[in-house]
Amino acid sequence: MASNDVGSVAQALFSTARDDGAIAISIEPRDIAPLAADEVLIRVEAAPVNPSDMGLLYGVADVASARVDAPAAHPTMVMDVPPALSRAVAGRLGQALPVGNEGAGTVIAAGASDEAQALLGKIVATFGGAMYRSHRTARAVDCLVLPDGASAREGASLTVNPLTAMAMVGTLRRGGYSALCHTAAASNLGQMLVKLCAAEGVPLVNIVRSAEQAALLRGIGAQHVVDSSQADFMAALTDALAETGATLAFDAIGGGALAGQILTAMEAAQVKKGAPFSIYGTNVHKQVNIYGALDMGPTTFSRSFGLQWGISGFLLTPYLMSLTPQEVGEMRAFVIAHRNDIFASHYSADISLADMVRPDLAQAIAAKATGKKYLLNPSI
Ligand SMILES: NC(=O)c1ccc[n+]([C@@H]2O[C@H](COP(=O)([O-])OP(=O)(O)OC[C@H]3O[C@@H](n4cnc5c(N)ncnc54)[C@H](OP(=O)(O)O)[C@@H]3O)[C@@H](O)[C@H]2O)c1
Repeated sequence: MASNDVGSVAQALFSTARDDGAIAISIEPRDIAPLAADEVLIRVEAAPVNPSDMGLLYGVADVASARVDAPAAHPTMVMDVPPALSRAVAGRLGQALPVGNEGAGTVIAAGASDEAQALLGKIVATFGGAMYRSHRTARAVDCLVLPDGASAREGASLTVNPLTAMAMVGTLRRGGYSALCHTAAASNLGQMLVKLCAAEGVPLVNIVRSAEQAALLRGIGAQHVVDSSQADFMAALTDALAETGATLAFDAIGGGALAGQILTAMEAAQVKKGAPFSIYGTNVHKQVNIYGALDMGPTTFSRSFGLQWGISGFLLTPYLMSLTPQEVGEMRAFVIAHRNDIFASHYSADISLADMVRPDLAQAIAAKATGKKYLLNPSI
């Protein structure tokens, strides 16, 4: 098969910021272009709905206002953007943006090159956007081939969260840190990080916000779990940071006081370990990398941690770009080998493209609750 012969139309999900103040999420047919020599056509069978996808999918819209847009030509759900936040969508007005960072499926057609032809019939995982569609064209070189017998479900989430967990450990090693601290730690990514740090011998302080989440993490072997809903949170966090020596944190929450509280507790941990007094604080650099926006509010902190500290953003893509292709290849091979243990993802339900325009489901997805990740199969 030298080019696609599967029919010329894919069903695809788009998110459009309209000038009437709504974000519209629609399922629309799109022509499938003939394949170039180095391309393959994937029937997408599994794609996670991750918090990072929701940033584009729902944007700053009020998901509680979601409703079906019955007069629309295609299945469409709309939700209102609060007027105070309308500037946040100004740059995307009128553009039907494809959604879905990663996913997996079966290669059903291939371009003429040997590399593309070799993938015919294989289950592959890929990333790079526009995965929420029944059929997606990808370059053969961007496809990760799953071992024989592995399912698309096993390949759905092999990029975003696993590589970010590995990037956290890589950042620790590069920076000469000895231990990590992580927030929203009962997330899928957080559970991967618990297992990865155990395998790599990296002490890890996990911050969660409920007793159930603490129990979940202890159940998979976490040694240091601190619950921010408890009255002794700051004391317990300081103890755990002193015990592990963690001065590098990755914060998925972003908004609110937690990033500053972590820096405060890191400084207190250094003092507790006997750092000499100085009005400038200890000489130990303390670093929080904000890598998510689970709380979209402002990041607030009072500087009670001396002057050796930093708060930065962190994104997987630039981190990967700082590595050699061989290093990225080794990370990917490690992820595939450990797809069913360290990097296993957990899904609460399998859904279809039609489900993605159901208001009740949008509200459930947008809650981003522990153990409530949805797996989309756009081909059903
Ligand atoms: N920067 C990057 O390159 C990058 C790459 C990958 C992932 N990420 C980020 O990694 C994070 C985890 O992703 P995931 O797919 O593993 O998530 P997930 O499995 O969907 O879990 C989300 C977790 O966040 C918690 N949560 C939600 N809202 C919260 C809030 N306001 N405050 C505290 N906790 C909150 C939930 O706990 P409750 O049940 O208590 O709500 C849940 O445990 C996301 O923020 C994502 O954007 C970033």
